[in-house]
Amino acid sequence: MGVIDRFSALLPLTAATPRLCLGEGSTPLVALPRLGERLGIELWGKLEGCNPSGSFKDRGMVLAVAKALEEGCRGLICASTGNTSASAAAYAAAAGVRCFVLLPAGHVALGKLAQALMYGAVVIAARGNFDRALELARRAADERGLAIVNSVNKYRLIGQRSAAWEICEALGRAPDWHALPVGNAGNISAYWAGYEEFRGLGRISKSPRMMGFQAEGAAPLVTGLPCPEPETVATAIRIGSPVSAGLARAAVSESEGEFNSVTDGEILEAQRLLASVGGVFAEPASCAPLAGLCKLKKQGRLPEGILAVMTLTGNGLKDPDTAMSQVGRPIEIDDDLEDLFRVLEQ
Ligand code: F0G
Repeated sequence: MGVIDRFSALLPLTAATPRLCLGEGSTPLVALPRLGERLGIELWGKLEGCNPSGSFKDRGMVLAVAKALEEGCRGLICASTGNTSASAAAYAAAAGVRCFVLLPAGHVALGKLAQALMYGAVVIAARGNFDRALELARRAADERGLAIVNSVNKYRLIGQRSAAWEICEALGRAPDWHALPVGNAGNISAYWAGYEEFRGLGRISKSPRMMGFQAEGAAPLVTGLPCPEPETVATAIRIGSPVSAGLARAAVSESEGEFNSVTDGEILEAQRLLASVGGVFAEPASCAPLAGLCKLKKQGRLPEGILAVMTLTGNGLKDPDTAMSQVGRPIEIDDDLEDLFRVLEQ
């Protein structure tokens, strides 16, 4: 069952909305006891990399594409740091509509590029950053009658609320803190809306503090200043002027949460920690929250014993280059038992 069927009662569907589904949503919420112990908290990870295109984008994309089909669209367009384009391309393929994706040239992880091309989208690498590509995509959508499936499309964020609903259903409550990476700032806004909606329905009694983590080189919500030249190893969140900045600021202030930044070094260290101590391989951007929790712990600002959920937004396999740049190479041996024993004894 996908997001549309599982949450049909909470989504703006009509009888004419196609029941599009690639098996998105219902992702595992896993306890991370070894990491939690180090941080002195009860830590859970929402494994959004388990979605069909390998990131959380599928939750909102399925609804955005279904509604675009319902409205008779001629084609889809988006700008993307990689995951939105992979997701849009996948659902466009499944739905049989054309898809154009604009990517910041040279700054998209290899796996995401492979996905968009393999799903059959028209892939356009624009020289410039994501913020500029999004402006172009919005103009083109307006002038050429294409459906824009970035998070400026309201259905994207409505579909993304489903992750917060799943967490409440799995835990029987909301977490004390919810930590997630922030780029274009849609996801943190969608989670907050999802929690608040469940609180309004009496399904939870309290919403969590929303803790948003940005990369230091692309942290406009932390500094409060525009960031014209965003730069970070976490290319998914290499964004200087977030479209949903206003919604995200409201989410953080209403929930008494905060925005914070982490360095690229801290992000990569957290990526290795999550994989080697947690058993979860997530892409660099997804590791900003763990980096942030570690930083707050060092500063003595992480309350003991709280229940915290991190959204692990994208699969680590999407960015093999960044992963391989940090780890060693395999130990090569001849196909010989003695050689193998020598390694086992090392
Ligand atoms: N994590 C990953 C893996 C992402 O791909 C993104 C955004 C974010 C976090 C941040 O989410 O933008 O809602 O604050 N990726 C977009 C894209 C921008 O084009 O794929 P956000």
